[in-house]
Amino acid sequence: MTPVDLRSDTVTRPSAEMRTAIAAAEVGDDVYGEDPTVNALEAEVAALFGHEAALFTPTGSMANQVALQLLVPPGDELLCDADAHIVNYEIGAAALLSGISTRTWISSPVGALDVEAITAQIRTPVTHSVPTRAVAVENTHNRGGGAILPLDVLAELRKATAAHGAALHCDGARIWNAHVATGTPLASYGALFDTLAVCLSKGLGAPAGSLVVSSAERIGRARRLRKRLGGGMRQVGILAAGGRYALEHNLDRLADDHARARRLADALAPYGVVDTARVVTNLVPIDLTKTAVDAPTFVARAAEQGVLIGVTGQQHARAVTHLDVDDDGVERAASVLSSLLS
Ligand SMILES: Cc1ncc(COP(=O)(O)O)c(C=O)c1O
Repeated sequence: MTPVDLRSDTVTRPSAEMRTAIAAAEVGDDVYGEDPTVNALEAEVAALFGHEAALFTPTGSMANQVALQLLVPPGDELLCDADAHIVNYEIGAAALLSGISTRTWISSPVGALDVEAITAQIRTPVTHSVPTRAVAVENTHNRGGGAILPLDVLAELRKATAAHGAALHCDGARIWNAHVATGTPLASYGALFDTLAVCLSKGLGAPAGSLVVSSAERIGRARRLRKRLGGGMRQVGILAAGGRYALEHNLDRLADDHARARRLADALAPYGVVDTARVVTNLVPIDLTKTAVDAPTFVARAAEQGVLIGVTGQQHARAVTHLDVDDDGVERAASVLSSLLS
């Protein structure tokens, strides 16, 4: 039997229809700015967020790093939370590739924003201090179990960062989930940030591709930064076509993933391993601290029974719903994981 793969929303495979769209893509040399499909995707995504321009990148990590290079000169500082993807899963890129000094805040629960505390950490340039040039937030928050940053709190943060002359970046790899879960227009998020990095290869189900979204001036510079990082691709409309298809067909359906995540959370809650109030998008954090089993063992036992979930810590695991998992898959997962916990 095919396993139910809930390790991540990045494991999806392009559907037959998406592959047809990819096969039919008009292409050109994107380093010359001549790929019509990439150009169309960039214009569409910029418009969705109410920004002037966007730049296609192969990955979300590159989109984040290009955005950080736009905002923070070498030697200066980025402020972000200690659980951010940027400082946990990008392998020191900001330091190594861009000479960016990173300082973090700790949020509790993970993913929540305390604007006052963050503002207090912003440093202005004096002779011997490192000036904070940008603050980065993550929406939805990966290590925060898919937590959504509320718009009013983000607006407050925007006001505070602007008052201190610091730019604001959003790692919006899953901002689509926040948009669908809350009904907040993407442009309302867009209006609060100087730069956003958004991914097509997570819940939207494209095989690859992300974008940096910002002003025309910044995206002009970003094009050179991307080339320097080795991300100048040629007939990449092949990938952009998958992204355009995903935006047209797979955005609204994220609500199904959220409902399935809630269904799984409800099934596991009686075992004291899931806080259902925190399951608001497509991630289901599983906390095994009050059980007799550790996460690697639990995950291995689930895999033996055809349910794949991820280890996120010695006592923590997670399940992620996505477009390749249907109701039957979620029921199977609920039944296998429940039986392991009872
Ligand atoms: C919040 C967040 N930001 C950025 C990324 C990076 O995306 P990529 O794997 O395409 O580099 C991920 C990947 O999972 C993510 O979860």
